[in-house]
Amino acid sequence: MPNNTHNQKFSSYLIGVMVTFVAITLALIFGILYGILSQSISSDFHKKLHLDESDISIVLQTKTNLIDTQLRNLAFDNSIKVSLLLGMKQQVEEQLEKQYHPHNGIYFFVHEPSFNRFIPEIPEHLSNVSKCLKNLSNNNLSKKEFHQCHGKYISLYSIPIMQKDSILGMAFAVYVIAEDQEFWQKFEEKHDASLLHKNNDTIRDLKTNTHLKSVFSRRMLKNFNSIDDNELDSHLANRNSVFIPVRNFPGVVYAASNEPLYAKRRHLTLVFAGLGTVVIILSLLVASLIATRMSEPLRAMADQASAIAQDPSCSSINESRIKYQEFKTLARSFNTLLEDLTESQNSLKQHRDNLEELVAERTQELNASNIHLQQEITERAKTEEQLAIFKKFAELSTVGFRMAELNGTITYCNPAMVEMLDAVVTAELMGKNIRCFYDENELALLENEIIPVTLEQGQWTGEVNIKSISGRVIPTIQNSFIIYNNQNEPLYLANVITDIARLKALEEQLTQAQKLEAIGQLAGGVAHDFNNILTGILGYANLITMTTKPEETVYRSAQTIENAAKRARDLTQQLLGFARKGKFQIVTVDMNESIKEAVTLMARTVDKKVVMSSDLRATRPAILGDPGQIQQILINLSLNAQHAMPDGGELVFSTENVTLTSEYCKRHPGAIKGDFLVLSVSDTGCGMSKEIQQRIFEPFFTTKKQGEGTGMGLAMVYGIVRNHGGSISVYSEPGEGSVFKLYFPVAPAAKETARANTSEGIVSGSGTILIVDDEKFVREVACEMLQYIGYTVVSFSNAKEALEYYQEHADEIDLVLLDMVMPEINGKDCFDAMKKINPGVKAILSTGYGKDGKAQEILNNGASGYVQKPYMINQLSEEVARVIGV
Ligand SMILES: Nc1ncnc2c1ncn2[C@@H]1O[C@H](COP(=O)(O)OP(=O)(O)OP(=O)(O)O)[C@@H](O)[C@H]1O
Ligand SMILES: [Mg+2]
Repeated sequence: MPNNTHNQKFSSYLIGVMVTFVAITLALIFGILYGILSQSISSDFHKKLHLDESDISIVLQTKTNLIDTQLRNLAFDNSIKVSLLLGMKQQVEEQLEKQYHPHNGIYFFVHEPSFNRFIPEIPEHLSNVSKCLKNLSNNNLSKKEFHQCHGKYISLYSIPIMQKDSILGMAFAVYVIAEDQEFWQKFEEKHDASLLHKNNDTIRDLKTNTHLKSVFSRRMLKNFNSIDDNELDSHLANRNSVFIPVRNFPGVVYAASNEPLYAKRRHLTLVFAGLGTVVIILSLLVASLIATRMSEPLRAMADQASAIAQDPSCSSINESRIKYQEFKTLARSFNTLLEDLTESQNSLKQHRDNLEELVAERTQELNASNIHLQQEITERAKTEEQLAIFKKFAELSTVGFRMAELNGTITYCNPAMVEMLDAVVTAELMGKNIRCFYDENELALLENEIIPVTLEQGQWTGEVNIKSISGRVIPTIQNSFIIYNNQNEPLYLANVITDIARLKALEEQLTQAQKLEAIGQLAGGVAHDFNNILTGILGYANLITMTTKPEETVYRSAQTIENAAKRARDLTQQLLGFARKGKFQIVTVDMNESIKEAVTLMARTVDKKVVMSSDLRATRPAILGDPGQIQQILINLSLNAQHAMPDGGELVFSTENVTLTSEYCKRHPGAIKGDFLVLSVSDTGCGMSKEIQQRIFEPFFTTKKQGEGTGMGLAMVYGIVRNHGGSISVYSEPGEGSVFKLYFPVAPAAKETARANTSEGIVSGSGTILIVDDEKFVREVACEMLQYIGYTVVSFSNAKEALEYYQEHADEIDLVLLDMVMPEINGKDCFDAMKKINPGVKAILSTGYGKDGKAQEILNNGASGYVQKPYMINQLSEEVARVIGV
């Protein structure tokens, strides 16, 4: 259907175009033809009118000439002349009647002056002419005039009748055109027109003598009147009439109707209209024929095309079915186009298939790149997050980060760096050169080593001192490295700078602590051996004094030995104290009370110039420890202070409670986290240099003259404090004084205070005691002592043998004196084995060390007593008696 509509429209269009074209062409041709023909008709018409007018003019002229000739004949007629001469009017009249009878409006008259009248008489209807004739006769001249006479157009002719030189009269001819029947008859035969005469304002018909006002409309008359005779020609155009002046006859106009011209034009118009109509109808027919002819092949092609559209593979348009060459060409072109189309469709299909593959491929690639992009985005987000974290990391880091251009201009410093360099804001450092922060020596290191090595090897690490804005020298560890750009060109010199001032101090403290620990180990070992030796010396000296009389020399010698050994024992005790192996008791000690006791004790001996005072602010003053050792600490510190103030000063003991945080412990090696009681002993004495401070806790370090000090005082204090789970620190300035701060872990409130056992009496007893000690000397002295006070003794140098014996004789043994430290089987294992043999076994532990650690473990496990080496006989006897007696 759409095809039909399309064709229909095309044919209509074609017809429309053709008809329009024909119509326009026709209009043009007909217009031109009509114009030409109309012009020709008009000119023919006007030519004919002019010919008619010429004809009229000639006729009238001929007539006038004839009249003129006749009048001349009359004037020269001799008979008339004679008659006139003779006065024979009658004869003239007869002759005129005979020869010049009026006809067709022509009248002849003779005027004889003597008669003074016209022969013949002037007829009635021409009476008005007589006056004009008379005027003419008076002139005696030949004349020809035209007159309007009483509405009649007349021609007057006059000629004198001469007899030699005398005038006999005048001959006249009057021509009344209206009465010329012959003329009018011919005129009417020939012309469909009128002759008009114009005189002044009046126009009359020459034939009818009627006034024209009744014939022409006012407008026509107006037109007519407005023209003069000369111009009349140019004003001939009139809608209904044509006026042509008749030549040689002034005032006479040939008036013809335009109607024939109009009729001809109308006819022409009709002919042209008819012709046009016919041509248009014909062209319509032709156009529709052509349109049909044209649309037919087109429709056929369209039908084929739609068939092809439904099944493109079917075929091409059949050219043989098409009649016209143009359509054949069109069909051929169409077929070529179709072929191309099919081809391009095929290639398009192929392309589409490829495209689908390509799209799938691209989609896959796109997906891959999407995933990649997503990953990149995630990575970027991660990187950004990491960057932010790194920024935070750099800003929160306590290590200084500094970045500078290769010429040394600083471009970045983290807050730690800003703080390290004593700047208030980062801007203070920006743009400065890193060289400003190194003094002379360090600058040389920077120029000669740090920068070249960093540039060459990529990094440099080492210790270097830097100088802050305020001039403070800071020991640091610097790690310098280069940051490269993407083109691997060095861009920045970066530094990670760690302030190691505190680290150095800590390191020193640690070294000190480690040194003291090592010395402690050494001293402990030595003291242990010493103790064993002293146990023997003191034991035997003790036994000698027991078994001899005072007046004996041996007794005195033994006593001297005993005293010397006691001093040696004290020293060993101090060493053991330092080595943290001399703690005897663990009881609750009220530090405030201990200080009060010590102050009271020392008040009597202290130099009067030294003012002692105490400031006991601790609300929880109880600690777990040995009251004797605490007293030793107080006495040692107070003695040192007194020695430092030979010219007097202030000595203050104070206590307070503090809580040590882990942060504090990190900064103070040796400090332990928790609640502490702080004992401070301060003086206003000579103070100590840094070098001395570093060594004061070493055993035997003293600045005193030989014999004045052993250098064990602070070593012991150190050991005791550490042994109590505490720590010690010292603050001192030379010339200003010193403060010793001792930190003890706080214990529940003190309920009892205990004192060192100082009983002097020997308690005798009986029973069998098994001694196990690897030290021969100690074993023997113990044997001697116990035997002296009444016991039976069996001794073994090692646990193995002792156990074998005990296996056999457990029921005979009342008590076992057991050394703690022995090779192979130690005291603890030996005790455990004996306990298996005899669960009720009684044992006293004998050791040079304190009651803590292993000794306490055995005691907890069921051992009954404890005796500290070296022991006096009374101490041993008391403990043995106590255990056996239990
Ligand atoms: N309060 C103090 N003021 C100034 N220096 C002190 C003070 N306490 C200790 N010292 C210095 O520490 C050194 C070691 O003291 P320490 O108590 O260990 O030994 P000592 O007092 O010399 O001898 P000892 O105490 O054995 O009699 C002293 O020689 C002294 O130089
Ligand atoms: Mg001292």
